[in-house]
Amino acid sequence: MKLSEKMEKALNEQVNKEFYSSYLYLSMSAYCESLNYSGFANWLKKQAQEELEHAMKLYEYIFERRGRAVLEAIDKPPSEWKDLVDVFENVLKHEEEVTKSIYKLMDLAKEEKDYATESMLKWFVDEQVEEEASAEDILQKLKMAEGNKNALFALDRALAQR
Ligand code: FEO
Repeated sequence: MKLSEKMEKALNEQVNKEFYSSYLYLSMSAYCESLNYSGFANWLKKQAQEELEHAMKLYEYIFERRGRAVLEAIDKPPSEWKDLVDVFENVLKHEEEVTKSIYKLMDLAKEEKDYATESMLKWFVDEQVEEEASAEDILQKLKMAEGNKNALFALDRALAQR
């Protein structure tokens, strides 16, 4: 069954959001790199790569359902943050927004009785739980390390392993 026009448009918007997520995290990675936190930079760069995979998963799905992927401009991400805590507060905030947007897609799939899209989106629902949990975890560790250079460097080294 072909995707409805409404669903096709909504999935295309999500493709754009995932590309933006990638762009945002790469920009955050560059910021961390500029502060010589190469572990944080590494983690964010890997996250940026994951977001590209999310975008491509949706992109491929649109074609599988005989839809048409249409690429739009990607917004310019910010390039400056106050500090590492600010970066990860914004990662978490961003992931919460993405979760909301996946839920909206799920609502639409249910409304249209588009079971295939619902099934595909389940993967994203589960993925968002992980995405929010890992952002929250790093944020909490960062807050605990505040003012303690050694703890911060240890965390940076740990994130270099991702
Ligand atoms: Fe693609 Fe981080 O959600």
